[in-house]
Amino acid sequence: MQVLILGSAAGGGFPQWNCNCPNCQGVRAGQPGLTPRTQSSIAISSDGERWLLCNASPDIRAQIAANPELQPRRGIRDSGIAEILLVDAQIDHVTGLLSLREGCPLDVWCTPSVHRDLSSGFPLFPMLQHWQGGLRWQPIEMDVESRRVGFSVPSCPDLRFTAVALDSNAPPYSPRRGSPAPGDNLGLFIEDIANATSLLYAPGLGALDDEIRTLMKQAGCVLVDGTLWHDDELQRLGISRSSGADMGHLALAGERGMIRELDALPATTRRILIHINNTNPILDETSAERAVLDEHGIEVAFDGMRLSL
Ligand code: MLT
Ligand code: MN
Ligand code: ZN
Repeated sequence: MQVLILGSAAGGGFPQWNCNCPNCQGVRAGQPGLTPRTQSSIAISSDGERWLLCNASPDIRAQIAANPELQPRRGIRDSGIAEILLVDAQIDHVTGLLSLREGCPLDVWCTPSVHRDLSSGFPLFPMLQHWQGGLRWQPIEMDVESRRVGFSVPSCPDLRFTAVALDSNAPPYSPRRGSPAPGDNLGLFIEDIANATSLLYAPGLGALDDEIRTLMKQAGCVLVDGTLWHDDELQRLGISRSSGADMGHLALAGERGMIRELDALPATTRRILIHINNTNPILDETSAERAVLDEHGIEVAFDGMRLSL
């Protein structure tokens, strides 16, 4: 399995257009140790030819330009992106669908909850119908009891996918904001049948339960939510009243933070953070917080990072 990290930042990207936090100021000024990042998205392939785009960020145009694998090669109109999967309906994960309209019809995998939000509050599905048939919904329907479902996608026949319901949050425009339902946020456990490797991808993870802990322990590599260092990071900077918990993102620091969760994984597990907010001090490679990650064997995803699993 090959994985392209197209965008490693959370919503807003790095720097964020209207943000004057120390990181955003620093990266604009070219401060060493700070690298710009586009918004949250990865692509997965088993043959290196056909790619499953996981989340379509507002930065998709720049991300395609930076990744030749996704560019047209075969016909007058073509793309390395064979199909698309959405782990939630957040703006940073879905807005890129508008920029892909010239390639419709497009097959889009998502849950009924995400499809509902993208047919009402943010009506991408009905709107894009006017472009060559638009988005063809490929439902990810989770078992109510187990809160998970196994499936495969045509573009990656060697990969086995398990979608698992995560505890995070629905988008601000959703009627379920603040009281999310199973299916509003997915984690993906992806197994490569040919070489018995696996990846757990969960860019929006508010709280861990035993289900997700078990899958994280099974995975050879985890690519998980690194949005915030402190739960009250945005409050401390005077940016927002929302905490990480309010937004559905478990902070890295603290007794029950993501670093502690990652410490509990087998020594051989590769641990990588993604969906990193521009305020997070780990974005500064010279920061004390980044040194803590190094001590714990935790990597920080960057745009252009490639994983061969
Ligand atoms: C999130 O991950 O919580 C959202 O993408 C935040 C946003 O709307 O930018
Ligand atoms: Mn986000
Ligand atoms: Zn900022």
